[in-house]
Amino acid sequence: MSPVTTMPCNFQPAEAVHPAPEPVSPYYRRGDQLKAKHNSINMVSGRRLETWALGLAPLEAPARVLDAGCGWGRFTWPLIDTFALSSTNVTCVDSSLGMLQTALEEAHRRRHRPSFASADIQALPFPTRHFDAAMANHVLYHLSDIYSGVSELARVLKKDGWLLATTNSDHVNVPVLEFHYKALDQLGIGHDADGPSEFSMENGGEILGTGFSKVDRHYFDDVTRYTSSEQFLASYKTIGRYRNLMAREDIDSARKRKLPVLVRQQAEEVILKRGVLLSPVRMGAFVCTGPRM
Ligand SMILES: C[S@@+](CC[C@H](N)C(=O)[O-])C[C@H]1O[C@@H](n2cnc3c(N)ncnc32)[C@H](O)[C@@H]1O
Repeated sequence: MSPVTTMPCNFQPAEAVHPAPEPVSPYYRRGDQLKAKHNSINMVSGRRLETWALGLAPLEAPARVLDAGCGWGRFTWPLIDTFALSSTNVTCVDSSLGMLQTALEEAHRRRHRPSFASADIQALPFPTRHFDAAMANHVLYHLSDIYSGVSELARVLKKDGWLLATTNSDHVNVPVLEFHYKALDQLGIGHDADGPSEFSMENGGEILGTGFSKVDRHYFDDVTRYTSSEQFLASYKTIGRYRNLMAREDIDSARKRKLPVLVRQQAEEVILKRGVLLSPVRMGAFVCTGPRM
């Protein structure tokens, strides 16, 4: 197990934690971009993934909850604000110090006091049977060894504990990616085709079954709606694929400037033709109980 430093929220993470490995993506070195992306999502139904998913969990206060791969705290804050969990019972871990810094600032702003730790989900620095519940939301597909991550999450849970794990479906085509890759082709920027996810709504149940005796799968189907290409562009500029490309030094600035223009043109064409651009959303959540040791 790697060392841990949990910190009350008035500590500076850079001084207080032992860094976990570098983030898998440069996009995760800071938390503000991910926060902007999440805040720009407006489902046609008015629902939010985080409150919908937390509503599925058998949450009982006062539970001690781990948010593993917490990011800027998208699921942490509704857990406290909407589901009335005491913030001091929540532990947030992430492998990115930048993410933890944003989550810490968010905690200050909301006057919450969760603990924070820099840690890798594949080697959680907590005792066995420590938490009543854990969350691993939109993170398991990043792990180099998902099975060891699942086993670690099961290990730190009490016998009657549960895990909430959200992820994307492989069975959905979203216009933003279609436009992004078409623009890359137009600019002569090479890219790999997106293969199936390492941890999706379709394959995730089997993977989680290695660590939990019961795994329930729930789909979240919705639509996001854009009525102007400016609105679509603003949302495009928050996604990891765009931000990571902009950070690349091997791509010249002329092509970087052209990329959002080409993406916006494609959105504009659809909006002019149909009056609206609808983007299907297919994601979901697994609720797992019976952690195996
Ligand atoms: C897509 S974000 C999801 C954040 C948050 N759970 C949410 O749903 O908004 C993925 C997060 O997982 C973190 N992460 C990636 N690999 C990790 C690992 N091995 N251990 C801990 N955190 C990790 C990233 O730094 C990032 O903050």
